[in-house]
Amino acid sequence: MSLHETLTDQEKLAGLQLDELQQLVGLVEYDEASDPFPVTGWDSITWICGNATQAAVYFQLAFGMELIAYRGPEQGQRDYHSYVLKSGAIRFVLNGAVDPASSLIAHHAKHGDGVIDIALEVPDVDKCIAHAERMGATVIAAPEDFTDEHGTVRMAAIAAYGETRHTLVDRSRYTGAYLPGYVERTSSVVRPEGSPKRLFQALDHIVGNVELGKMDEWVEFYNKVMGFTNMAEFIGDDIATDYSALMSKVVANGNHRVKFPLNEPAVGKKKSQIDEYLEFYQGPGAQHLALATNDILTTVDELRARGIEFLDTPASYYEDPQLRARIGEVRVPIEELQKRGILVDRDEDGYLLQIFTKPIGDRPTVFFEFIERHGSLGFGKGNFQALFEAIEREQERRGNF
Ligand SMILES: [Fe+2]
Repeated sequence: MSLHETLTDQEKLAGLQLDELQQLVGLVEYDEASDPFPVTGWDSITWICGNATQAAVYFQLAFGMELIAYRGPEQGQRDYHSYVLKSGAIRFVLNGAVDPASSLIAHHAKHGDGVIDIALEVPDVDKCIAHAERMGATVIAAPEDFTDEHGTVRMAAIAAYGETRHTLVDRSRYTGAYLPGYVERTSSVVRPEGSPKRLFQALDHIVGNVELGKMDEWVEFYNKVMGFTNMAEFIGDDIATDYSALMSKVVANGNHRVKFPLNEPAVGKKKSQIDEYLEFYQGPGAQHLALATNDILTTVDELRARGIEFLDTPASYYEDPQLRARIGEVRVPIEELQKRGILVDRDEDGYLLQIFTKPIGDRPTVFFEFIERHGSLGFGKGNFQALFEAIEREQERRGNF
């Protein structure tokens, strides 16, 4: 059976259709049997937050996510709170320390709010770990079963860039809300009348920022250890402003559900946005998470109304005749995009609409992208120039330029 024909349980639960998902995240067909490290898709993204209790409310009120599970002192986990939220096929797990002696405190003191674990759903944890070990990966947790009355989950974890890790999860024998130890939890948050059921349906990609000179090492890690292949998008010296620059390559799992662009700073006259991230996150980490929506106009309108701030796009982006010609025909008038600051990129396969939020925490580190794909499997390379200029204006206001 090809994975291409199969929706994950999470996607089925979210009511997503295969053709819808293909458009949303650019799913492709592939042969799982020849994959040394088969990955089905995303499992969950775990964050460490300075205040997970408040962050859980923020993600519900602003991002329209739904609280589905919880674990904390009441369940015997005296160290930290853990809130599980979902939107469509995406799960976020928000962890925040309860105990002043918790190891989460030191992690948060160093990195601020951010992603610690990009967990992936795999059909065979042991096969993946055996391959990862052969390829020299650091195994943080050996395969182990976790069981409660809802069944068994098998998990293991390997180290990725910085203090980020990939937990590998086989939940095929589990029916509980999230993982053994968690209880089902809902909240009293009511969706405002007339607002959409959700603002995003799936996770498209997560970008990792790594140190100068390390991008190729991490590309090789994902190639060798996890069997990921390189996607066409490559950003080299040609994408740079006069002052700051990055290099970027993209790796993806077999079915392209999981896509990891990897950035490293390139040398510029001033501090690049990647350098700024590395300084304020105190090392490599997840830079942005791209959330897939099938109606980016509504999503952006709703998010703005709920207080989410996006990067400005210069008016010249929409008015410059050359740029306008590049945008071409899209599903809505350009004026509608300009009103909202939504960017367009185009390649031989189609186009995509995208927009970037400002950093969501106190530090200029992690942020979100919203993306609506129409055939294009790219990441907005053509928009980097416009984006850089917008980010640099923000950096300048913060005095970090
Ligand atoms: Fe992106």
